Amino acid sequence: PATSLQDIIGHAKEYGFVFPSSEIYDGLQAVYDYGQNGVELKNNLKTLWWKAMTQLNDNVVGIDAAIFMHPLTWKASGHVDSFNDPMIDNRDSKKRYRADQLLEGKAEEYAANGQPEKGQELLHEMGRLLDAGDLNGVRELIISEGIKDPISGTDNWTEVRQFNLMFSTQVGSVAEDASLIYLRPETAQGIFVNFLNVQKTGRMKVPFGIAQIGKAFRNEIVARQFTFRMREFEQMEMQFFVRPGTEMEWYERWRDTRMKFHQAVGLPTEKLKFHIHEKLAHYANAAVDIEYQFPFGFREIEGIHSRTDFDLKSHQELSRKKQQYFDNDIDPATGKPYGNYIPYVVETSVGADRLFLAVFCNAYTEEVVGEGEDQKTRTYLKLHPALAPIKAAVFPLVRKDGLPEKAEQIVKSLRSEFRVVYEERDAIGKRYTRQDLIGTPFCIAVDYQTLEDDTVTIRHRDTTLQERVHINELKARIGHDVSM
Ligand code: GAP
Repeated sequence: PATSLQDIIGHAKEYGFVFPSSEIYDGLQAVYDYGQNGVELKNNLKTLWWKAMTQLNDNVVGIDAAIFMHPLTWKASGHVDSFNDPMIDNRDSKKRYRADQLLEGKAEEYAANGQPEKGQELLHEMGRLLDAGDLNGVRELIISEGIKDPISGTDNWTEVRQFNLMFSTQVGSVAEDASLIYLRPETAQGIFVNFLNVQKTGRMKVPFGIAQIGKAFRNEIVARQFTFRMREFEQMEMQFFVRPGTEMEWYERWRDTRMKFHQAVGLPTEKLKFHIHEKLAHYANAAVDIEYQFPFGFREIEGIHSRTDFDLKSHQELSRKKQQYFDNDIDPATGKPYGNYIPYVVETSVGADRLFLAVFCNAYTEEVVGEGEDQKTRTYLKLHPALAPIKAAVFPLVRKDGLPEKAEQIVKSLRSEFRVVYEERDAIGKRYTRQDLIGTPFCIAVDYQTLEDDTVTIRHRDTTLQERVHINELKARIGHDVSM
């Protein structure tokens, strides 16, 4: 049977990858904690991204900006005025829904009943009403389509209201003139406001990029699908500053580079696709998503946007600080330097938690092994060795005769290079199973022969095949597979 999201959630919790936040208090919706194995996998993904951005490119550097930013930042970026979802409540169930999602559900229903054109028409009408700001029209559409609350079964709907997704809090005490500030809903703005700081201090020449990994916060109303849509999440974003007129070339280049990254971390080509945006955000002149086929369908994991000079220009207006760059390259058309301009920006933005979920779903493998009465299901995580939380587990065959000491010596010799664990509890088969469940690519067993000739068996996770190698070879063997 196909893997369900429930299998994934269950496995993630059972084996220390992802826990519901503050679970002893029954959790907090759409907020999750990474456990002892999850944090390793997520860190490995973040490190690979960071390396792909700042090490494999000459012209990309990183920063780490604060989560809190001056409130005008969010005015300039457009988030104060337009980072909204249209919400509707049902008076009987007292439940709140996203109006657009109710209509999207109805459109899917039409499609499932062999009337896809009717669904398309409905979505088109919804888009028109939302663009025109006709929220009353959206409500009427919901009622005329006969959409009922799934809990109360009634259509006793309230008016539709726009609901801003930013979380706010106050700095300073109430007695002083405390001011309202926001938790950043994207990391990108921390890069835009530092554009000139980095350009000048790093003597950066356009085209160049600034990368950042950090938390972002959105008050998602309909939070579903595990770590796919969270209220507190992590983004890995890179803004690439280019000369106006060259943005499409860079947009295409980054789109392809980013697709290759997802393939390199092990996501299969057939489960990845581009989704080109027809309806563009207020800041973009081209946008494409990279989608992964989750158990609940193809969904966005990364967005690549050509953001024009929207953000820098807007910050220049509000801050009254020039956001210009002087380009002394010669323009062949005029024979003179290109001179001053506000750069255009191509952005790549991937959610660390979504990437984690995609990699985790893809790695989760159930295989039927054995025959007849011995038939059983073997579950393991087929993670790229570079991503595995633990690279190797070392087992003494028995807990006596110097085998544990020998195994511990091997752990010591490897641990400066890789994350390695020692494990002596339970029968060896059980120990293999435990490592399979968390995706450890190698298990190294120490037996009596080891004491004689310094050889061990390496057991490979995916094939379960074993081979005998000399202890001196271990570093190179594991090192070869865990590098990317
Ligand atoms: N700076 C552009 C920007 O933030 P976005 O499409 O809103 O664009 C980019 O977000 C990426 O951030 C998404 O592709 C997704 O991976 C991740 N993301 C956005 N909202 C999220 C949420 N509520 N939970 C988890 N990840 C999220």
